[in-house]
Formats: sequence, C-alpha cells, structure tokens
Amino acid sequence: MSGAPSTRPAAFAIGEHDFLLHGWPHRILSGAIHYFRVHPGDWRDRIRAARSMGLNTIETYVAWNEHAPTRGEFDLSGRLDLGGFLDAVAAEGMHAIVRPGPYICAEFDNGGLPAWLTRDPQVRQLRRADPAYLEAVAEYLEQLAPVLVPRQIDAGGPIILVQVENEYGAYGDDHEYLRRLAACIRETGITVPLTTIDQPTDAMLEAGGLPELHRTGSFGSNVASRLETLRRHQPTGPLMCAEFWDGWFDSWGTHHHTTSAQDAARELDELLAAGASVNIYMFHGGTNFGLTNGANHKGRYVPIATSYDYDAPLDEAGHPTEKYFAFRDVISKYVPVPDDSPLPPRPAPAPAFEVELGERGPLPRRVFGPEFTSDQVPTFDEIEHDRGFGLYRAELAGEASRPAVLEIGEVRDRAWVRLDGTMIGTLARDSHERTLMLPSARGTLEVLVEDQGRVNYGPRIGEQKGLIGPVAVAGDPITGWSLQPLALDAVADLDLTVVDPASVQGDVARGVFELPEPTALFLDTREWGKGLAWVNGFLLGRYWRRGPQQTLFVPAGVTRAGMNAVTVLEFEVPGATHARFVQGPDLGPLEE
Ligand code: GLA
Repeated sequence: MSGAPSTRPAAFAIGEHDFLLHGWPHRILSGAIHYFRVHPGDWRDRIRAARSMGLNTIETYVAWNEHAPTRGEFDLSGRLDLGGFLDAVAAEGMHAIVRPGPYICAEFDNGGLPAWLTRDPQVRQLRRADPAYLEAVAEYLEQLAPVLVPRQIDAGGPIILVQVENEYGAYGDDHEYLRRLAACIRETGITVPLTTIDQPTDAMLEAGGLPELHRTGSFGSNVASRLETLRRHQPTGPLMCAEFWDGWFDSWGTHHHTTSAQDAARELDELLAAGASVNIYMFHGGTNFGLTNGANHKGRYVPIATSYDYDAPLDEAGHPTEKYFAFRDVISKYVPVPDDSPLPPRPAPAPAFEVELGERGPLPRRVFGPEFTSDQVPTFDEIEHDRGFGLYRAELAGEASRPAVLEIGEVRDRAWVRLDGTMIGTLARDSHERTLMLPSARGTLEVLVEDQGRVNYGPRIGEQKGLIGPVAVAGDPITGWSLQPLALDAVADLDLTVVDPASVQGDVARGVFELPEPTALFLDTREWGKGLAWVNGFLLGRYWRRGPQQTLFVPAGVTRAGMNAVTVLEFEVPGATHARFVQGPDLGPLEE
C-alpha cells in the first residue's frame, strides 16, 4: 500500500518571483562542466574550483551517443560515470542542473544523438513528435532514470533543475513534441522543475517553449535587452541566463577564440545586478577527447577542434585564468565567496622533454575490420561504422594510357586517394573538393576517408558519412566497392615489429617515456601534418597542422609513474622521429 501523498513543499521550486530553495528565494550561480570532456580524475578538482569562484551549482549536458554507442547498451563507466560526477558535485556542497537533451548541440558529434538513431529508417523526423524517434528517446530516458531520479534534491541529492531539449526554437516549433518529451521525462520519475532554453528572440522563445516549462535564455552580451525579451515570454518567476557565453569554441582552420575578461565580467555584473540567475557556459570547457567533436555547416562544413578550452575561467588544463579572478570579484559583490575553499593552482610549467619514436611502420591493412562489399559505393552508415576512418577500394578497368578525372558525389569529410599504392591527392569537404586527376583509369583505387565529426547544429544533424555516390572515373560510373572500417583501438596496441605487406596511407610511430608520477602534459603536434595521438592507449584526439591548436592536452590521469607510451597515427607528413612534450598549451593565433 502506498502512503498518503506528501504535503511537504518541494525542496526546489519556481516561485512567482524567484527560485525557491526550501521555500526561500534562491539565486542560481552555476557553471558548466561537461563530465565527458574532463578526465574523471580531475572532476573533483574542477568542481571545487567552481565553488571557490563563488558558484553554487554545476551544470552538465548528457551525451546520449557516448552512453549508447549501440541501441540497448548504456555505458556509465569511467568518463561516462554521470552518477559519480553528480556525487562529486554533491560532495562539494553544490547543486546540479542536468540537460539530458536528447539533443544537446554542444559542439559534440551529431549534437549528442546516436548515429544508430539518426540513420534508422523508421525514424522519419528527428526532434519532432515522431513515434519511432520518441520511442528511442523514452528508452534513453529510462536508462538515465536510475542515475538521475535518486539524485534529485527531493531525495537528498544535488539536482535542482532538468532542461527539456536544447534551443528548440532555433530548430522547430513542434509543441506536441515538447509536451510529449516533458511528459516522458516526468514519467521516469523526474520531479524537479523543468526548463527550456532559447536564444532570446521573440520567434525562438515562442517556438522553443511551453507555458508549463520555465523559459530561460542563452546569450553573452546585451544583457538588458535580452532579459527584457525573455521577460515577455516568461512573465513570472526568476529570469535565468542558462548559457551565459563567456568565450567561444574553436574550429579547425580558424583563429583561437578569446574574449576580454573585463567585458565578460562587466556583462556578468549586469546580469547579476538585474537579479538574474546564471549558468556560465563554459566554466571549464575541457577537451573533445577521441573522435567526439561535432561540426558546423552553414554553407560550408567546418569541424570543431579537439580543445574545448572555450577561453573559459578555468582553462583546458584546469588552471584559473584572468577571467576566473574577474568573475570571482564580480560574484563577491553579490554573495560571499567561500574563504574555506582553496583557489585552484596557477599554471606551472609542465615537464618538457622529447621522446624518440623508436617503433614505426606504415598503417597495415590488418587494423581494418572485415570487408563489406557492394555494387554501389556504400556510406559508413550502411556498414554501421559510426565514427572515424574507412578504407574504400575498387578496381578501375578503363583506359590505362590517359589521365582521367575521378569525380565523387560528396566526400564526408576528407579523402586520401591512392592508385596502385601511389598517393594521388587529397579531397577536402571543407573546400568543397570532389574531383581529382588520376594518371590513369586503370588500377586499384584506394580511398581512405575520415569522418571529421558529425554536424551538431541545424538541419544537417544525422547526415551520413563516408563517400556519397555516385563515383565516376572519366565519366564512367565505378561499381564493385569494398569498404573496411579502421579499428582504432587496434592502432594504439599495434605490434609494429610485424611487417604487413599490405599497407594503407598512414604511418604509425610509437615511443616510450618515463615519468616520476602521473602528470598533465602538452603534446606538441606542430611538426606533424594530420592525425591522431594516444598516450597509454587513451586517444587524446585529432591534431592538424592547419590549427589553430598546436598542442594536445594530456590529463594527468592517463599517465602513470614509470613507463608510458605515446602513439601517433599520421596521414599526411610521414617520418616523424620524435614526439615533443612542451611546458604549456598553444591553442593558436588570436584574432587580429
Ligand atoms: C548554444 C547551444 C550550446 C552550444 C553553444 C555554443 O547555446 O545551446 O550547446 O552549442 O550554443 O557554444
């Protein structure tokens, strides 16, 4: 038998004017840290630094595609231990805001949506009241419930708010979808207030919210006018800037984005003086480890860089910046900043040393998975290869004596083309390239393709990767394809003493080095071309001479006392003999 319904007021509620914590007016001073962008060994430290800056809350998205690489699975281990992260927030005496999406944007691969979902033919429309889409979303929210429900404030946990969708007004206006999604979140046992977020324009706030969900805004400047617009659409209750943009992300091929600490502090001051609540996006940005970065496409495909430093108050390596102290000064005008909490350590030089890459060899065919054959050129999605690299092969039987044009429908996103083992050239989607001159129309065509990250914003979310047909040489359609996925895990532990006669465009090199204790490092990539780097089997991410970033951050937690290994997979400038670790980050040139 269930007991009588509780009459106790909710521990956290939205009042006529304010957020109410145990019935008392409360201002949320939050900072964003995405657990999946920070090594778990650093979580506690980063959260404590937020507390020391004067924040009382940590906000995180949940990256569905990271937890569920295949449908039915739900990985909560290591970097994905969301429960552990929320417990660390609680242990620092802070509250938590959780934004489970299902779409999160966040410069993250596919905006957080699993590739198995976005290619499912049953799913007719994403982010709409589409039955197959909503069924998958319901499954996801059920998988998340055991983590979130017992950690809500009513159950003694840190969670005070949960956000529904993300800037939905920039994408759609299907209010039935928002209603169904909110109902679904409630059905899993979420009882804390629900919010939406939109860029503060009348159209987006109207399209992206519902009267029963508390509307918040995302902006980083023009505070007074943004709050005024938000107020028109959220006539009662507290005003909240749920993404106060205090910096910006970097994309490959651009400069490193920074904003002035003074300007950002002034905007924050204005926001707090207006009585608003805030979530600083980002407080600590972290890193797009592995192949997790997203991309933008506004007429041109632009992939996101590996560093997600964001020019945030706490930098990628966890050190306070000028912005940290400027924000702390502003916050201290409104609330006492804790004096019992140590300030994070100022950056100290990381150890600088060189490692000889003693083991080396061409990228062997044996690290590629089974061959999938098809008459027409298949996409990566057709072989359920969700991220990374794939090797296409086809026999060309045309004229041997004359050069011929290779023409590809679309390359997603970068292709290295070889004919009979000879490198011919590169095709880059970000330059709209899709044709290349071949010396002959006969021989074995090999195209190694990199998926550089799925688009995370706008109508191109979920688009397929790999080669998009048709493919023709000298105007003749090419048929009879094979496609093999690159098994990246196998590259990190590859035995380079075993020589493989069949190799692919790419070079693997490895070296070992000793450390007295686990230490955060910066791997200098400026001598190299384009590729991936691992330390002790942990894929740090992509590097690219194009920049802006020229170093990769190595969290202390992936290193160890004693022997360590660095592995590099280089696609464009083979022959590196050394890896260099340097004292600090080089995130690239600033805007002039
Ligand atoms: C929007 C999104 C975030 C992020 C920022 C830009 O506000 O909601 O997920 O993409 O833009 O960093």
